[in-house]
Amino acid sequence: SRTYVVTGSASGVGASTAALLRDRGDRVVGVDLRDAEVEADLSTPDGRARAVDRATTLTDGRVDGVVACAGISAPVPKTVAVNFFGVTRLLAALLPALERSDAPRVAVVSSMATLQPVSDELVAACLADDEDTALRVAATLADQGPAVGYLSYPSSKRALSRWVRRECVTPAWAGRGIPLNAVAPGTVLTPMTSELLATPESAAMVDAAVPMPLHGHQSPESVASLLLWLTDPANTHVTGQTIYDDGGADAVLRGDDV
Ligand code: NAI
Repeated sequence: SRTYVVTGSASGVGASTAALLRDRGDRVVGVDLRDAEVEADLSTPDGRARAVDRATTLTDGRVDGVVACAGISAPVPKTVAVNFFGVTRLLAALLPALERSDAPRVAVVSSMATLQPVSDELVAACLADDEDTALRVAATLADQGPAVGYLSYPSSKRALSRWVRRECVTPAWAGRGIPLNAVAPGTVLTPMTSELLATPESAAMVDAAVPMPLHGHQSPESVASLLLWLTDPANTHVTGQTIYDDGGADAVLRGDDV
């Protein structure tokens, strides 16, 4: 059996991932704000350090897989702190524990929102690993109201998918034999989207932005099962990918642009 660290394990995609792993006999150390083995706030450097310390202790310093699901979609700077730095900084700090595994694997949850308009300045600050600048840029966006503030979400996800692509081939990742991938869901039926889908008017806006001709809105399990495969020893050569697991949203929106 393998040992996994799953962030966002208290709800939605993370909870589904943790449940599927436990059902098949793997050990899961969940990380979340509450209702988790490790209760920590991944939006702050202190919280991330606490998460890494506790997870390392609970896993005896050997981690076979990390699945990073924790994320928020609010039009506030914290979105970039959780969705980008709460993933990249955590993963970097878990590399020593991953290195002790025979078949280490990592997957993160991005979003089809990578295809939406972004703040190039915010994406650049993320990829420069400059959290102070990223938070400052995101605060400027938030000051311009929720529609502009929302840019923090697609920007955090586009930066995350690009980070995966850049990092995966480096000595830190490929050199240690660790596949590193992202999954980009469409509209998943979780607490994150329940309010948006609650009225026909806002649901129609969501569906216009995220067209899902194949099977419509998806379950968190549909995303979790792909995360399980990407972090299984069976995955030997898939790396650096953002896999659009989105009922065709990417195919509709990007068409031939592959
Ligand atoms: P959710 O809201 O059900 O679960 C997210 C979990 O992350 C919660 O348990 C929450 O407490 C945790 N979390 C939030 N901030 C945290 C922090 N600072 N520190 C530690 N944990 C924190 O959301 P869902 O839908 O399961 O989302 C999972 C991932 O999937 C997110 O990264 C989200 O951006 C992404 N996603 C979701 C989509 C959807 O339609 N629901 C679509 C595309 C991507």
